[in-house]
Amino acid sequence: MSDADRPPLLIVEDDPVALRQLRWTFDAYAVSTAADRASALGELRKSPFPVVLLDLGLPPDAEGASEGLAALGEILSLSPQSKVIVVTGREEREHALRAVELGACDFYQKPVDADEIRFLVKRAGQLHALEDENRRLARDARREPLPGVVCISESMRGICRLVERAAPSDISVLIVGETGTGKEVLCRALHALSRRSAGPLVAINCAAIPAELLESELFGHERGAFTGAERRVRGRLELADGGTLFLDEIGDMPVAVQAKLLRFLQDRVIQRVGGREDIALDTRVVSATHRGVPVAGGAGPLREDLYYRISELLIEVPPLRERPDDAVVLAQHFFEQFRSGEQRPLQGLAPDAIAAVAAHSWPGNVRELENRIKRAIVTAEGSRITARDLELSAADAGPPDLKSAVRDAERRAVARAWAEADGNVSRASKLLGVSRPTLYKLLREHGFRE
Ligand SMILES: Nc1ncnc2c1ncn2[C@@H]1O[C@H](COP(=O)(O)OP(=O)(O)OP(=O)(O)O)[C@@H](O)[C@H]1O
Ligand SMILES: [Mg+2]
Repeated sequence: MSDADRPPLLIVEDDPVALRQLRWTFDAYAVSTAADRASALGELRKSPFPVVLLDLGLPPDAEGASEGLAALGEILSLSPQSKVIVVTGREEREHALRAVELGACDFYQKPVDADEIRFLVKRAGQLHALEDENRRLARDARREPLPGVVCISESMRGICRLVERAAPSDISVLIVGETGTGKEVLCRALHALSRRSAGPLVAINCAAIPAELLESELFGHERGAFTGAERRVRGRLELADGGTLFLDEIGDMPVAVQAKLLRFLQDRVIQRVGGREDIALDTRVVSATHRGVPVAGGAGPLREDLYYRISELLIEVPPLRERPDDAVVLAQHFFEQFRSGEQRPLQGLAPDAIAAVAAHSWPGNVRELENRIKRAIVTAEGSRITARDLELSAADAGPPDLKSAVRDAERRAVARAWAEADGNVSRASKLLGVSRPTLYKLLREHGFRE
């Protein structure tokens, strides 16, 4: 079995003999080990662990439990989703109970029995998987497959799955998409789902900062580095240490700064402007651009070597006009969100508004939709928001001939049910209120299936 197939397990144990025994016991796991609090936290910063086995008697308090309990607190605040099982000596039941009070999921008293402790770790792993699945389902039910990301289209759901898979690792991500498509929203979700979520998320927009200031904004500067540099200032990369830096509009980065960024991505160290000292940083870089894939054999604005470094994962966010189903659920989402501030009882979106939302071409993408809904809530005169309140013309509301309008609506309904049921035929047919054979026929007619 390769390491990738084994469940990860972190064992924190200072006694080498006990550690060797635990390694044997858990040979079916990808075991990482740590002998003290600092290295345990270091391991957790590197990658996530569903289960941690923690010896409470850690140095410098190997006979007591103070260091072990402190480690427990820090492990849980860094990685609240991890299940921690504490291991104590024979006589230390009250320490074990204190640990459970602090959030340990279970405890085990030495001497270690291999079968018993394997059972506890396996059960903790299952509990972790179950909680993970529950969190996912809860988000799905809200049509929010990732925190803050509302969507139902197949294309966006695929992107959400990618983000979810990439989040726990440190691979660098480049997000490409037109203005307002949700690039920053995806970056926030990526950060929130990563082991860095307790750390900072710092954003910098390369297009908004004058080229000559960008270097010192990113890397910081020492006192006296240039005229006016009266004190040492830390840059955004340094402020994002332990977290994520969102580098927006990376296509606008001057070439000299690109070289310096490349060096950071290769060696993970920076020098402040005017400084000589190498400063090691643990910052994950997520970049974005609205200009399409920014490199074309070196002719684009980005150095090719930098491009490959920042785009270990490339995410292309489709414009809203290519996902009209998302436009409709987003309109409803923003309506609910902004209505709450209103005194008047607004009931929802009128059918002509929904049709117009699905048909409009949304050059400003989700941001435009958000703004139109916000404005319409304030200006609407009736009890429902109409296409006119959204300042979308009736012509936007789709073709006037009934047959193709019905067909269009049918296609959208089928697409939505199909996506919502995650491709499950009986669930999708229930959602639509049709029989399974009818659903098969619809899926074929609209080209969703062979
Ligand atoms: N899928 C989504 N669910 C909920 N809100 C969204 C979604 N996509 C975008 N938004 C909202 O739309 C607005 C624009 O999104 P965001 O700032 O992420 O876009 P962007 O791609 O970074 O745009 P720009 O290129 O102009 O910087 C934000 O207010 C954001 O909250
Ligand atoms: Mg943005």
